[in-house]
Amino acid sequence: MEKRTFGKSDLQVAPLAFGGNVFGWTVDEKTSFSLLDQFVDAGFDLIDTADVYSRWVPENQGGESETIIGNWLKRGVKRERVIIATKVGSSMSAGNPRKNLSRKYIRQAAEDSLRRLRTDYIDLYQSHYDDPETPVEETLQAYDELVKAGKVRYIGASNFSPARLSGSLRVSEERNYPAYISLQPEYNLYSRAVFEKELQPLCLRYGLGVLNYYALASGFLTGKYRSEADLSVSKRGKGITKYLNDRGLRILHALDQVAGRYETTPASVSIAWLLAQPGITAPIASATNPKQLDSLVQAVGLKLDNEALLQLNQASGED
Ligand SMILES: NC(=O)c1ccc[n+]([C@@H]2O[C@H](COP(=O)([O-])OP(=O)(O)OC[C@H]3O[C@@H](n4cnc5c(N)ncnc54)[C@H](OP(=O)(O)O)[C@@H]3O)[C@@H](O)[C@H]2O)c1
Repeated sequence: MEKRTFGKSDLQVAPLAFGGNVFGWTVDEKTSFSLLDQFVDAGFDLIDTADVYSRWVPENQGGESETIIGNWLKRGVKRERVIIATKVGSSMSAGNPRKNLSRKYIRQAAEDSLRRLRTDYIDLYQSHYDDPETPVEETLQAYDELVKAGKVRYIGASNFSPARLSGSLRVSEERNYPAYISLQPEYNLYSRAVFEKELQPLCLRYGLGVLNYYALASGFLTGKYRSEADLSVSKRGKGITKYLNDRGLRILHALDQVAGRYETTPASVSIAWLLAQPGITAPIASATNPKQLDSLVQAVGLKLDNEALLQLNQASGED
């Protein structure tokens, strides 16, 4: 499989990242281990998680996903064989929703993530959300210290506005701090406008890697939800309602047609469409069983022709 250079780093990554928000949520530890084994055995390397995953599950506290990944790493995969991307700054406490990228907070959160991941270093440490209350200089100084200490290799941003992203890049250059090498935005066939309008051109201009999340729109783009009656097929069904409208169904129709022509699944076509978009390094998607993961992995070998891309673009154009 052809790897892609990740932004301006010296990392080479396979073009699909496994999304770790399912670990400790819709997938237990045993199944997480087998999915991660399957992913790595298929030649992939990038695993995305966050300190806060999966705190939204009633009995969880946050940290469950990193703990499962850490336990998996200790089972024997060579540490340098995988690229671990985690995030900091989303609230870990139910009573305090503040996004926090202060130096003090990052220093402690990095130690906690390293301990849960059972590793000495994080390959990509990402600001999960912007924190407008903390000066950008302070956040980048904290990252500078972690990079110098060998605890973090590269830093990335997620959910940043174009202005804050370019502002952060400018401060890194002026102060000689590490610079964000990547952006993690929401982007898929259904949710296009926010990324395509300003963020995509900015990522291309600065040579940032892009790891886009919700590559399957939480499962909607697999085609398994066609009406309200289908929402009960998954624990995540409730969140799908927002896609069940004319435009969503038009996208599914185009996905069905293209998938039929290529004798593959809508899930694979959705990922293949993302892989054909300028600037995308590796879409992040998750799976809860081996068959689902297989459909994601298959997408990497699927090259859509212009007719298919046009059909999908037309169906997904914003109203
Ligand atoms: N930076 C951020 O703020 C942010 C926010 C959200 C997510 N993320 C990252 O992005 C990753 C991906 O997001 P996500 O997992 O929420 O959404 P997703 O990748 O869009 O959807 C994945 C879900 O769709 C279902 N699925 C996958 N393949 C399928 C197939 N072939 N057939 C039928 N169903 C299939 C599975 O759920 P079921 O089997 O349960 O239906 C799976 O968990 C996360 O794990 C996380 O790493 C980042």
